[in-house]
Amino acid sequence: MTNTTESVYDNQDKNAENLSADLAAYLQEDDVHAAQQGNMAKYAVGDEKELLKKNVDSGRNAILFASNTLKGFSEKWSGTGKERRLWICDKVSEIGNSSQNKFRAKVIFVEVICTDALIVDQNLVSWCSTGAGADKAQLEHTILQYNRKYVTLQEDGSEDDLSYIKLINYGEKVITNKMRGYLPMRVVQFLSNLHTKSHNIYITRHGQSEYNAAGKLGGNPPLTEAGQEYARRLAKFAEENICKDDRGETRKARLWTSSLQRTILTAEHIQHPFVDDGWQQMSTRVYRNLDEIFAGEYEGLTYAEIEKLHGDEASLRKMDKIGYRYPRGESYFDIIARLDPLVQELESYEEAVLVVSHQAVLRVLYSYLVGNDRELAPKQEIPLHTVVKLSYDAYHDGACTETRFYLGPEVNKKLEAQKQL
Ligand code: F6P
Repeated sequence: MTNTTESVYDNQDKNAENLSADLAAYLQEDDVHAAQQGNMAKYAVGDEKELLKKNVDSGRNAILFASNTLKGFSEKWSGTGKERRLWICDKVSEIGNSSQNKFRAKVIFVEVICTDALIVDQNLVSWCSTGAGADKAQLEHTILQYNRKYVTLQEDGSEDDLSYIKLINYGEKVITNKMRGYLPMRVVQFLSNLHTKSHNIYITRHGQSEYNAAGKLGGNPPLTEAGQEYARRLAKFAEENICKDDRGETRKARLWTSSLQRTILTAEHIQHPFVDDGWQQMSTRVYRNLDEIFAGEYEGLTYAEIEKLHGDEASLRKMDKIGYRYPRGESYFDIIARLDPLVQELESYEEAVLVVSHQAVLRVLYSYLVGNDRELAPKQEIPLHTVVKLSYDAYHDGACTETRFYLGPEVNKKLEAQKQL
């Protein structure tokens, strides 16, 4: 063995041990404040520039992101072969057993495989167009090299004791092994819906309702004149912007509303023509899960009336807006729970989607979509008569770009301001 080879192995061991120590400390964290700090697991194995940040807000979960570059092969925590995977499992159980507060951490391997030549080609083209200096031929060469070295999770029985999920061609085929329990199954469900195609999600509140104009909560009121005008402007906007791509070509689009009449009326002028392959544009799906927060016994009251008649309740809500549940009504946490299935569905769409819903619901949805802390959601500004466009492009911005289109007409902002009570 030459000196150079020795130093490569020494480095591997040092990195692996550092990561083991960090991981052990993170998984055993007791102190609440420190645990909050540690919620951001930032481990990129193989390429420090590819730090992957994931928020985890219950339990202690760490995500080790094994880079898919060739550098990953020189890292022990990369899981690039059977031996490495076995080593990871042994190491995690070792750090669990050697700690004072013994814990049992479960290891789940996630393998993303793309065998569809068209998707690979599109991904390479997108990646090269980012201007990151990548050259398509070089990338193709790297893929070949990677294929020669990487050992896929074995389905011949030799790795049946591992928990893993293999995602082939973005959820076209999903193979799972030992993924039992609530959280592992949620991981499977969530990952199966993801894709890397660039796509747009548009969200808007309904046009001004009669209750908005009167400062009242909830109910099922119709639109005011101004609200009806917004509905007409929204239809034009949808036709010109949502149903067309940046080059003006028709693109497939979807429409979701809540079950309350103010969102259905807001979408009523949107056209539903059939496009080339029989797809009906903006065919409306009505979801009760998108209905506004239910204020229970306080439906139809104004904020001022709630303060006057139920001062204690108003104070409780001010103290903990996200957790406060209206008497016989809902809280922001309840909205988060009922939006869950819709979010799974949204994540799977490649077509543009317009969601017409309500203030509280869109605050939660928006916060999820842009990756904001949910504690901030109840105060998030989602103004009337405005369409918020969220664009996702896995290769260009990595995350999400936001554009707001104020369509008008102007409505009394004072009433909106009072809502922050
Ligand atoms: O006032 C419009 C409205 O959609 C009400 O129906 C709803 O109760 C409220 O906004 C939600 O906002 P907040 O959580 O700030 O009270």
